[in-house]
Amino acid sequence: MLYSEKVMDHFQHPRNLGKMENADGVGEVGNAKCGDIMKMYIKVDDGIITDVKFNTFGCGSAIATSSMATEMIKGKSVEDALELSNQAVVEALDGLPTHKIHCSVLAEEAVKAAVKDYYDRNNISYDAALFAEGECPHCHE
Ligand code: FES
Repeated sequence: MLYSEKVMDHFQHPRNLGKMENADGVGEVGNAKCGDIMKMYIKVDDGIITDVKFNTFGCGSAIATSSMATEMIKGKSVEDALELSNQAVVEALDGLPTHKIHCSVLAEEAVKAAVKDYYDRNNISYDAALFAEGECPHCHE
């Protein structure tokens, strides 16, 4: 089968789908390859992500990876959330077809953008290299 059961499950029953009022950080990113977009909202309490929501105008793999990503960062510190890689999300979903790996990058980038927004809003200093844009280190696109 092309997609794992976990991918199908998260695609058909996305966790934490929707908008968030009064989010502490919002990240919006676009996928240069396909034009899909993703919005991620985080609620932060004492440095801990207490709630996450996402919205996407994207494909099934983008929905599944974002859904899984929200579950993986909920309850974690913002620093830990920054460590989340798209590979870790793909592994948690038991894999994605190779030509869909780029979709998972959207989830990772949306989490990072939301954390960056949280840092910016709260005047928390950070190493800009953490959020350097450019070629995706995972898929080189
Ligand atoms: Fe665009 Fe999957 S095809 S994110």
